[in-house]
Amino acid sequence: MEPVVALPADWVGEALGIELMTPSSQPLARRLYRALRAWIQAGRLASGCRLPSSRRLARDLGVGRNTLLEAIEQLVAEGFLETRPGAGTFVADLPFGRGEAVSEALSEKVPSEAPEAALSARGERLLGFCASSGDHHGAFAPGVPALDRFPREPWQRLLRRHQQRAPEAWLDYRTQGGVPALREALCDYLRLSRSVRCRPAQVLVVQGAQQGFELIARMLGDPGEVVWMEEPGYGGAQACFDAAGLEMVPVPVDGEGLDLKRVPPGHAAPRLIYVTPSHQYPSGVTMGLSRRLALLEAAEAHGAWIVEDDYDSEFRYGQRPIAALQGLTEAARVIYVGTLSKVLYPGLRLGYLVLPEALVEPFRRANARLHREGQYAVQAALAEFIAAGHFSRHVRRMRDCYRGRQALLRRALAPAVARGLALSEGQAGMHLVAWLDDLDIEQVLVRRAAEQGITLSPLSRYYLTAPGRPGLVLGYAGARDDEILRAGDWLAQAWLSLVEGEARPLRGRPGTPG
Ligand SMILES: Cc1ncc(COP(=O)(O)O)c(C=O)c1O
Repeated sequence: MEPVVALPADWVGEALGIELMTPSSQPLARRLYRALRAWIQAGRLASGCRLPSSRRLARDLGVGRNTLLEAIEQLVAEGFLETRPGAGTFVADLPFGRGEAVSEALSEKVPSEAPEAALSARGERLLGFCASSGDHHGAFAPGVPALDRFPREPWQRLLRRHQQRAPEAWLDYRTQGGVPALREALCDYLRLSRSVRCRPAQVLVVQGAQQGFELIARMLGDPGEVVWMEEPGYGGAQACFDAAGLEMVPVPVDGEGLDLKRVPPGHAAPRLIYVTPSHQYPSGVTMGLSRRLALLEAAEAHGAWIVEDDYDSEFRYGQRPIAALQGLTEAARVIYVGTLSKVLYPGLRLGYLVLPEALVEPFRRANARLHREGQYAVQAALAEFIAAGHFSRHVRRMRDCYRGRQALLRRALAPAVARGLALSEGQAGMHLVAWLDDLDIEQVLVRRAAEQGITLSPLSRYYLTAPGRPGLVLGYAGARDDEILRAGDWLAQAWLSLVEGEARPLRGRPGTPG
């Protein structure tokens, strides 16, 4: 007896259904016949397979039973199928591709040649901003918090509780701008700790800062319009603005942040101005008060919106926190962007915008249309996480942790610093910058570090205008103490051997951009 391969009836029906979706002028029975015959010849329907009953198959396909029988009878007549009285219709014993898994064969139509990507011009450009993306952990991946220190136990407990108690409304489409309790909790937190002027209705919960930038770019800038960008600056924001078709005009950053006097001439007035005033990314400088006021004035004069990205301002060590630009004056033309990726963890995908009154309604509606809202249980859990004090406790602990890790990194790099390696100053954030003099050295260090399992992010890539200043962005927050010491020691020695071994001048320019 031939082994009878039990054919999951639904799959044949579905596969034939897909086949019939392609428009064709051929009669239905002919198309069914050809599809089944092709599968048998390709060995996709193995010998011995039993077809579903014609009654069921016809019903699944929504075709007349006679139409189906016409195809089957033809295949029986040609010897591809055989009927066994009382048992059904089977694929005949033929020498085509025996033994191939039926489900696999039916569920995929493998094209002979894989299609080419053929990206849009925008897609191609976007890839230019993705060079460094990948899964990086440990020393010195920038922007990664201490994931091993996250208080998972109370967080999981809250998550479970809110999942279990989720009201039916949370299963539905919603357009509220986020769970009210979270918007209130964030509002209180921002008012107290960041001097942001807001009420809960102005808070729009999004899936991370990245989604916020996307929304801002699409809602406020038409293709070809200008956005002033910090140079060097954050690649995530660059990618969003570029993908929205905006013209990014790089404005150099010096020891006080974005320098308005150095806006390149010859461009239209900006629609948007993107800044990280509390802790410029990546240089680490803080924008001074006079620059902040000048920026607010410039935005007013141009009718532009400032995008204030306040990504890691919780982490200042020994210095007083710097108030947000948004809160400096009443009705400032500022959209404040916050993220929970640094204070909690990036996989959470939660961030928020604090919108000026005029933008609240349009952004809430557009976000619900473009991105959809969701994650209500997670948002509710986070609201309680904040209210119960877990959030502020975690921030305090991480502040201590990162202060210690930065000190360790400085200690490990001290031998190189003593010989002229310029390190960024400032007791804040989750990374330092080592300024180099030579692009070749940057590249050699990046390559050699990768061989050691160490992630070095080349500073030159953070510039919109090539070639960019050479340097290294050194994230320390997500690395264990021993990793920081080992990698820091390796880097110090590698840098020393490069600059001294090749008798390069030890010039070490000052540790600020510009
Ligand atoms: C300057 C800056 N802004 C914002 C973010 C956070 O982005 P998201 O909330 O999309 O994770 C990061 C993360 O690396 C960052 O470096």
